[in-house]
Amino acid sequence: FKALILVGGFGTRLRPLTLTKPKPLVEFANRPIVEHQIEALVKAGVTDIVLAVNYRPEVMAKAMHDYESRYNVKIHFSVETEPLGTAGPIALARDVLLADATPFFVLNSDVICEFPFSDLAAFHTAHGGEGTIMVTKVDDPTKYGVVVTKGGSSVIDRFVEKPQIFVGDRINAGIYIFNPSVIDRIQPRPTSIEREIFPAMASESQLHCMDLEGIWMDVGQPKDYLLGTSLYLQALADRDYALAQAAVTSSAASSATSPTPVPSPSPVASSPYRHSRTASQAKPPRLVKIAGPPLCRLPFVKGNVLIDPSASIGEGCKIGPDVIIGPGVVIGDGVRIVSSVIMEAATIKDHAFVKRSIVGWHSTVGQWARLDGTAVLGDDVHVVEEVYVNGAIILPHKEVKACVLSPQIIM
Ligand code: GDD
Ligand code: MG
Repeated sequence: FKALILVGGFGTRLRPLTLTKPKPLVEFANRPIVEHQIEALVKAGVTDIVLAVNYRPEVMAKAMHDYESRYNVKIHFSVETEPLGTAGPIALARDVLLADATPFFVLNSDVICEFPFSDLAAFHTAHGGEGTIMVTKVDDPTKYGVVVTKGGSSVIDRFVEKPQIFVGDRINAGIYIFNPSVIDRIQPRPTSIEREIFPAMASESQLHCMDLEGIWMDVGQPKDYLLGTSLYLQALADRDYALAQAAVTSSAASSATSPTPVPSPSPVASSPYRHSRTASQAKPPRLVKIAGPPLCRLPFVKGNVLIDPSASIGEGCKIGPDVIIGPGVVIGDGVRIVSSVIMEAATIKDHAFVKRSIVGWHSTVGQWARLDGTAVLGDDVHVVEEVYVNGAIILPHKEVKACVLSPQIIM
């Protein structure tokens, strides 16, 4: 298989983070968003990935070079001289996408889910139509593309991008698979796949949809990024829990048949930071994960938390639920963090309080300072001691010396 990832656009809604890095390289759960996607594509048998970029490809080149060897995949850059929208890039990359007759995947660069690409390919091949898009249900469909199917089937009757009036709640998840013939519908000029190509395919009954299982989030805005983080952590916890259950069951089964007990094969089940749980316990599974050497002491953690092993954490902190702590982060004593993401090399000083916020790379939150209300600090921002920041977006390299009481952009 082949795949194209739509990487263009300026990531305006994820500023100030995207002033420092292109959106696909912004970390989600401590790994660039695009790395989650590349890893899943490769797992499904993708050998060639086109990155459709419309500005500064050089900033992504090094990371992609690393991924080529790490994931054993060829990554092609397709650079637009003017933004070609969400369809134009497919025509521009036709040489790679048409290298053989197999269908190809297309995905938006800001979506997070469990990426069931193999299931999508199997479903697509089985119905025989020209394209399949993954759909998911949301409460507020107005900021997405909405699909309406033909009575109970998978065939899409209408596709409406960002509807003003309610047409349905099943929305385009930003993950597609197409037969090569779709390329003949597209010219290499600015074109919206959602507004031009999908309605045309739907009118010919050539567009199908497949419901996505599990979590999904467009993490292209800070609020959704934080919400997506908590969903993702719970999905990890559920998966670990299921693995641990399977290990318990299989070792029980094997000890019943063999005279010598077999040690648990799963590193998850035996890891010292998992709380062991039996099927009769009804509490939802919980994730406390340090992606590296086991942590010896965890009294400060509440709910699902992911902490890079290179981070250091002081005494008397309370962290969680729904917190991600990146590499090299330094957390002082008595710090409280909840529903937040602390990115690489940031420092949170003693007795600071960080809630529902994103602390960018190399930033500092001073002693007794408070962040809340989806505050986002860009790269290298310094919030001085005792200051309160509520819902503000702080651009890179700023020093915040006075309280910011209401949501605004500080530049
Ligand atoms: N190469 C390239 N060139 N990529 C582009 C361009 C362009 O000119 N314009 C946008 N993109 C990329 C973005 O980087 C993103 O990965 C994807 O196309 C979709 O653009 P967004 O700006 O994130 O669109 P959206 O979130 O408002 O809506 C889209 O995603 C929803 C799901 O998250 C639509 O596809 C909706 O139908 C969908 O529901
Ligand atoms: Mg988006």
